Amino acid sequence: MAVRRLAPDDVQPSQFAFSAETESWVKAQIAKYPEGRQASAVIPLLWRVQKDCGGWLPRVAIEAVAERLAMPYIRVLEVATFYTMFNLEPVGKFYIQMCGTTPCQLRGSDAIKAVLKKRIGEAGHVSADGLFSWLEVECLGACCNAPMVQINDDYFEDLTPENFEALLDDLAAGRPVKIGSQAGRTTSEPEGGPFTLTDESLFDGSRVGAWKARFAEEAQAKAAKDADERAKAEAEAATKQAASEPKPAKPDSGRAIETPAADAPAQRAAAGEEPIPADKRKAAASTKTKRARKSEDSSGKKPDGDKTS
Ligand code: FES
Repeated sequence: MAVRRLAPDDVQPSQFAFSAETESWVKAQIAKYPEGRQASAVIPLLWRVQKDCGGWLPRVAIEAVAERLAMPYIRVLEVATFYTMFNLEPVGKFYIQMCGTTPCQLRGSDAIKAVLKKRIGEAGHVSADGLFSWLEVECLGACCNAPMVQINDDYFEDLTPENFEALLDDLAAGRPVKIGSQAGRTTSEPEGGPFTLTDESLFDGSRVGAWKARFAEEAQAKAAKDADERAKAEAEAATKQAASEPKPAKPDSGRAIETPAADAPAQRAAAGEEPIPADKRKAAASTKTKRARKSEDSSGKKPDGDKTS
């Protein structure tokens, strides 16, 4: 980087004053900062004053800013000489910053530089008519549209020696010029037009809410899958439990399942047997009663179902 010094005395103006419009703008800038912190407004003030002075900062303008912000002059001078956005020497009406960093160089910035040298002269030199001056700078952040230049506040991109010469002709003649790409593309879309996001349905509103439906479907499918897995896990657990803990058999009230509850006449008739005569049934009953009494005598308990006292 070149040493940055103030312009020679013979080009320095002898006085500077804030215009009425700049004065009220300066007050508004200073008011943004707390009392005692007005120095924070130094860069905006220098930038505004540079515009008012035709694109560069004379010594008297730097001093005026220092005085307005109650800063030592040397501190404002440090800021003005540090940042390359501040020009310390006069520039042309159209101040051209040409990017010479790798992407722009690979795309032809050397040819653009050759045009500048041919039309204006060496870098830092103001053309005889006062219209143009130029400087080579580092990347200006428009590499997609390389090579490019910045002229005053605007970018001019996709330059070729031909379209750049035509651009300089238009500026010199005061004709309107097209800012941005000089190759006809919109912003930084691909050469030849866009080839992604070209589906019209992306922009006509027909897809609005489609993403919501997708999330609902996915949630439903997941819930069904979870329920399925839960049911399977429960079935498996039940099978395991049944194998390790078999259920107790049904109580049979103390009767042998195969044994009929009573030797009833209807059962004998169904089995094709003769009914037991009444006298034999009586004898059998008295035998049962005697057996039961005997059992009571030996155990001291009454047989089940015996209500006698
Ligand atoms: S390299 Fe030129 S704009 Fe980035």
